[in-house]
Amino acid sequence: MGHYRRALGFALPYWKRLGFVLFVSMFATLLGLAQPYFLKVLIDDAFLAQNFSLLVRISLLLFAVSVVSVVLNAVSGYRYIQVSTEALFDIRLRVFRHLQTLSPRFYAKTKMGDILSRLNGDVSEIQRIASDTLLSFLTNVVFLGGTVTLLIYLEPRLFLLSIALVPPSIWVLRRYRTQVTDKNLELRERSADIGSFLVESFLGMRQTVASRQEGREAARFREKNDRFVRALLDRQITNYLASGIPGVLLSVSTLAVFLAGGYLVLSGSFSMGSFVAFTAYQARLLGPLSGLMGLYLSLRAAGASLDRVFELLDEPAEVEERPDATGLTSMRGEIELRHVGLDHERETVLDDVSFKVAPATMTAIVGPSGVGKSTIVDLILRRLDVDRGELLVDGIDVRKLRLDDLRRHVAVVEQETFLWNASIEENIRYGRPEASSRDVENSARLAGIHEVILKMPEGYLTQVGERGLQLSAGQRQRIAIARAILQDATVLVLDEATSALDGETEASIAEALLPLVRHRTTLVFSHRLPLIAKADRVLVLEDGRIVQDGTALTLSREEGTFQRMFGSEESLSPAGKSPKSA
Ligand SMILES: Nc1ncnc2c1ncn2[C@@H]1O[C@H](COP(=O)(O)OP(=O)(O)OP(=O)(O)O)[C@@H](O)[C@H]1O
Ligand SMILES: [Mg+2]
Repeated sequence: MGHYRRALGFALPYWKRLGFVLFVSMFATLLGLAQPYFLKVLIDDAFLAQNFSLLVRISLLLFAVSVVSVVLNAVSGYRYIQVSTEALFDIRLRVFRHLQTLSPRFYAKTKMGDILSRLNGDVSEIQRIASDTLLSFLTNVVFLGGTVTLLIYLEPRLFLLSIALVPPSIWVLRRYRTQVTDKNLELRERSADIGSFLVESFLGMRQTVASRQEGREAARFREKNDRFVRALLDRQITNYLASGIPGVLLSVSTLAVFLAGGYLVLSGSFSMGSFVAFTAYQARLLGPLSGLMGLYLSLRAAGASLDRVFELLDEPAEVEERPDATGLTSMRGEIELRHVGLDHERETVLDDVSFKVAPATMTAIVGPSGVGKSTIVDLILRRLDVDRGELLVDGIDVRKLRLDDLRRHVAVVEQETFLWNASIEENIRYGRPEASSRDVENSARLAGIHEVILKMPEGYLTQVGERGLQLSAGQRQRIAIARAILQDATVLVLDEATSALDGETEASIAEALLPLVRHRTTLVFSHRLPLIAKADRVLVLEDGRIVQDGTALTLSREEGTFQRMFGSEESLSPAGKSPKSA
């Protein structure tokens, strides 16, 4: 029940408009309720009493009532859909905003298709049920109450007969209750499976083709689809049974009423008009009853979807801004890690890492693959929080800073660049949308990509395609560098930012970056020498701690990891020969 209360919380801001909708539809329901009674008057007082003027008046009244109720139903139904879709978008947006706060750990363990299916499929399911059936709940209840009252008024004994089979119907319904919930959950999960499969399969298309596994992927698709279809048919059967059996039972009572009521009419103790009205009301008893039963099932389905959506909302944000977080209008750019430890599920990645980077210096952090370099980048940007120790910026624990301020002052070029499906210019501008075209060009020049862009058919307006795939990896990387330069942050973090470039281009970018690097704190995570050689200080990370600390020159003379990775002194010539192993 909790999830419905929570969902109602989202409807609360709309209570005035909802109130209007309910009022209008109640009125329409009452009008509908009156119609069969007119039939009784028509037959008993107009036909049998041969009153023609009453016949005309009643017929006109019937006509007017049905036109008005059609209009009222349309108005309330339309407004209801409007309100419910707005409230549901609120849920969707809340989830979307929440997803933006979740850590890389969450995204590493969650399938993208699963998130998509909750945000799309489940919310749509809730929307469908909310707009189809929730309004009908109230009208059905009112309709049912009114119908029962009128049935009792017309003939109490017949009424008892007509509802004799309602209890067993409800019993059947309850029996199928848990089954229907389970089947719905199963169905949503199978559908999410297909979504996940498709997302992953399209992302991995290049690998599929290269490994000649198109057939296998298609077979996997078929298998997932088969499982979905099985779940769908299975749920359908349960649904038919759950609503069909009570329906059959209720038809049995209709039969009984026809026979018993007909007998009363024939024996003269029940008027013809009352019999017609009674059967009309009784036929309408089935409607709201099965409506309410169907609604019950729908609510279970919506409940399953609500659970899946709220599960996303309840996923704890690992990184949260404190309510009393400190603002940071400007940053000096001092970064310090004190005994930082961080574990991933399987292992301890950072064990005890301590170092302090002075403002406006360039520090290179090197180390074998998988040692935790990108993890340190995540910590500095606070996409993750340390498990042990602390990370300070300008002497303040990052957990005490406002997230927005921290991230504004730190620009990052990621190991895996991401470009939006937009123009080159928009991509460079992403972190600073208000930047002038001149600034954009300057950043591109520093990143060594300006000339390349000018040679493209549409220059800065060239579209880069989905994830930037219409560009080469090196071009993407330089656009990402330009984006970071444009952000003009105090701290610049380059995580393998030049890994896709040839030695010559890399060296010239390193050269171009130097004036820029001078008045900001630069952290370079790299396997390659040209950038490392330019750093004021080089730290070597291994086995979860800093094992060497010096300059490229001193470390190349020292026996140790640095020398194993980059060779000794000779390899440090300015041309920046490639390292021994990278
Ligand atoms: N979400 C995750 N869940 C579990 N383990 C993870 C996760 N992310 C990273 N790891 C593990 O953490 C370790 C450090 O990863 P990280 O990306 O920081 O390495 P790296 O030093 O940047 O390596 P590379 O030089 O290859 O880029 C790796 O062993 C990796 O397997
Ligand atoms: Mg990395």
